[in-house]
Amino acid sequence: MPDARRPLLVTSALPYANGPLHLGHLAGAYLPADLYVRYQRLTGRDVVYVCGSDEHGVPILLRAREEGVSPQEIVDRYHVQLRDAFAVFGISFDVYGRTSAPAHHATSQAFFLTLERAGLFRKKTERQLYDPEAGLFLADRFVRGTCPICGYPDAYGDQCENCGTSLSPRDLKEPRSALSGAAPVEKETTHWYFPLGTWQPKLESWIAEQKNWKPNVLGQIRSWFNDGLSDRAMTRDLPWGVPVPGEVEGDVEGKALYVWFDAPIGYLSATKKWAEATGDPERWRRYWTVHPDGAVPELLHFIGKDNIVFHAIIFPALLMAHNEAAGPAEPEFVLPANVPANEFLNLEGQKLSTSRGWAVWAHEAAEAFPVDTLRYALAATLPETKDNDFAWADFQTRVNNDLADVLGNFVHRTLTFAHRFFGGVVPEAGPLSDASREVLALLETATAQVGEAYEGFRFRDAVFRTIDVARTGNKYLNDAAPWHAIKADRAAAASIVHVSLQVCASLAILLEPVVPYAAERLRRMLRLEGVRPSTPGGEGQIGWADAARSLLDEGHALGAPEILFSKIEDEAVEAQRQLLERRAAEASGEATPAEPAEPGPPYAEPKQQILYDDFARLDLRVGKVIAAEPHPNADKLLRLDVDLGYETRQVLAGIRAHFTPEEMVGRHVVVVANLAPRQIRGLESRGMLLFAEDRDGRLRAVTTDGEPGGVVK
Ligand code: 2FM
Ligand code: ZN
Repeated sequence: MPDARRPLLVTSALPYANGPLHLGHLAGAYLPADLYVRYQRLTGRDVVYVCGSDEHGVPILLRAREEGVSPQEIVDRYHVQLRDAFAVFGISFDVYGRTSAPAHHATSQAFFLTLERAGLFRKKTERQLYDPEAGLFLADRFVRGTCPICGYPDAYGDQCENCGTSLSPRDLKEPRSALSGAAPVEKETTHWYFPLGTWQPKLESWIAEQKNWKPNVLGQIRSWFNDGLSDRAMTRDLPWGVPVPGEVEGDVEGKALYVWFDAPIGYLSATKKWAEATGDPERWRRYWTVHPDGAVPELLHFIGKDNIVFHAIIFPALLMAHNEAAGPAEPEFVLPANVPANEFLNLEGQKLSTSRGWAVWAHEAAEAFPVDTLRYALAATLPETKDNDFAWADFQTRVNNDLADVLGNFVHRTLTFAHRFFGGVVPEAGPLSDASREVLALLETATAQVGEAYEGFRFRDAVFRTIDVARTGNKYLNDAAPWHAIKADRAAAASIVHVSLQVCASLAILLEPVVPYAAERLRRMLRLEGVRPSTPGGEGQIGWADAARSLLDEGHALGAPEILFSKIEDEAVEAQRQLLERRAAEASGEATPAEPAEPGPPYAEPKQQILYDDFARLDLRVGKVIAAEPHPNADKLLRLDVDLGYETRQVLAGIRAHFTPEEMVGRHVVVVANLAPRQIRGLESRGMLLFAEDRDGRLRAVTTDGEPGGVVK
């Protein structure tokens, strides 16, 4: 069991800012970390969770060339998309940085210089492939050719996607430039190599001391050790990346740090950014370095299996080297305490592939279904020990059975019964039956066991055990049948409802990591206050351990019951499957299966012409929805807090039939900012949000990449 007093730093792999987020990403490195961190925050642990966009590397440069735009334009676009998609999914980073930030460049360059000055690199001049047409050296993915191992004709210069072998560009047969298609020539160039082999003995003894690492991770590490580690170039000839610092000896013109050198340092620069924002710029040290008093923080890297070597071998070796170079006077960097890597998530029985159009984009899925349902189904399907498959039919079954039928029903029946027969307050427990005692005892064991599962990175187990508490509660309620008891023995019925309400209250904590929005609604229904938030900041006296005990006092007034989860209809999942098929057909260039060809209602009539001045009177602004909840007295309205950059406004929107509150939070929307305030059902609305109405009357969010306060014109 890790020491709960150690400061904890959790990282999720920095995603490349060259495409949107999909469910495979979420299941690999983000949802598991978020579950873990939310659990730790509930226990009161001092934790910082960092991530950010990985904005360098060849794929971004290639993409920019394909689109004829600058790499900065590509990363600006996807950085915002990624950040917002994470927010919509409730991935609760303390900070989300980016590696094109000047502060990240400075941190990476300083790291490089420390190693260089200590003589820990080897400079080598070698002949490398060069594209004479594009005038660029062909590092990594810039060159394609035939795999020397399996004969696959389209292997990359750094890896064969077919057989998985890791390659270097000169290994390829019949190489060709991915930029121009030209046959490369060889040309001399000089680079800084990190002699990984000399660090192997230290790495091996460090790994030998590690406890509780996953077998899939250790297996990969052993195989790298068995093959023997060799020198790795830490610089590239590339026009995009962190420039090799000018202070080093030699010609650095056109040279950048290798993306896998600077990306993990992104965790460090993101932590520094976070520390700055807290007003204590040196605070990052608490999570990265051994304290003068000997306290050692705990560093955890959540990643997918393709990133294991970088996090469990190369980055730790670089940290060791930095410690050696900086000398004993400098606080020592800690090495990761664990690298709980996941395997891959397949989709409907096939390997996920963005180029083949076989992916579910996170932002689209979140428009179709409540985020909690996706989080739950993904958490139950995490590829923890082997690849796992996500299928829409399973998604529907899990949501309908576990969340709607078991959990939702249990909560709803308990609360409605308490309102109907006990005036909406927690009734007296009185003498408890054996069954009641057993259920209350289960809360104690389940709280401990679910906690242990989280601590041990067994997230699926944690989720199953959590929902089992609801299942037990539901069965208890069915068997005890207070609706019969109430006629003959009111005290017995009261006792059953009392116990069921305690189960609901414990669930309102136990469910928080996996379905945080539903857990919050459940707490509102129970009027359970004082629970510590599982998101950054905020305080509360009630934490994880309190789920083991009865949380609601006799006589405590309850709120109104709401439907926690609705069932997912067959049509909704069928539409997702068809969307997937259509995308795959489009990507393969096949004729696209026709979209449902129903004509639909007519378009709205065009409006009368206006002059530019009419339009210019509108003050349209980008606003970020930072909170959303149902309007207390109107079924059609949501009450939203919208950050306009220069101020935060309360806005009421008639969208409750179209969006859940959690679907709105995190979105960057367009606000009519100079609309006169209005009172609607007892609350003031200051502004209006724009939505697009489909012909069938369905509302779609109008969202933007812009920053809060930005003028829309
Ligand atoms: O594989 C990837 O998506 C990389 N961008 C992960 C980087 S992780 C870290 F080192 F930043
Ligand atoms: Zn191959």
